[in-house]
Amino acid sequence: MEVQKAIRQRRSVRRFKNIPVAEDQLSLLLEAARLAPTGSNTQSGRFIVIREERMRQQVAKVSHDQKWMAQAPLFVACVADLRARVPAGELVIDETSPQFELKQCIRDVSIQGEHIVLQAEELGLASCWIGAYTQEEIRRVLEIPEDKYVVAVLVIGYADEAPAARPRKPLSEIVFHEKWQG
Ligand SMILES: Cc1cc2nc3c(=O)[nH]c(=O)nc-3n(C[C@H](O)[C@H](O)[C@H](O)COP(=O)(O)O)c2cc1C
Repeated sequence: MEVQKAIRQRRSVRRFKNIPVAEDQLSLLLEAARLAPTGSNTQSGRFIVIREERMRQQVAKVSHDQKWMAQAPLFVACVADLRARVPAGELVIDETSPQFELKQCIRDVSIQGEHIVLQAEELGLASCWIGAYTQEEIRRVLEIPEDKYVVAVLVIGYADEAPAARPRKPLSEIVFHEKWQG
């Protein structure tokens, strides 16, 4: 499949079949994240593979109790390890953090996450990004230390629905030439 096809046919899917994701497919997803570009090649992304139903239910619970999530056989929590960019010193890593390095890490790990999503699409897997949780609660469930930031949880599996494309702004509204045109 060409990248363009994966980009065009991807949808956020919220109904999944009860079919597990094979280990070799999971390896390809994680490899896609590993190969993504990151600022100064700092590679702050860490990826927690979540397959156990009990864990999926707990993650769904702290994600605004989005119960549908737990149907999906595989979650990948995409975590920024700020120590990859800030080896020592104080870190304030929560939703209110002014820390510049946190923003850089979120950018990098987001790119890695989208690599996973597009690789999943190519493998015939569907996905949905999840960002509706607090750092405090998701860290508690996944036993993540306070100097890490959970950028997203990716919910992955075989689609049991085929949503239509959601609307996007036209290029004429989002593309400027040479300078900002407001
Ligand atoms: C960072 C991020 C967080 C998201 N969090 C959620 C979420 O918590 N629950 C949910 O149902 N969808 C979530 N979504 C999916 C968006 O609602 C979806 O991408 C958007 O409506 C466009 O639809 P599409 O992905 O099918 O094109 C999230 C998407 C992104 C990129």
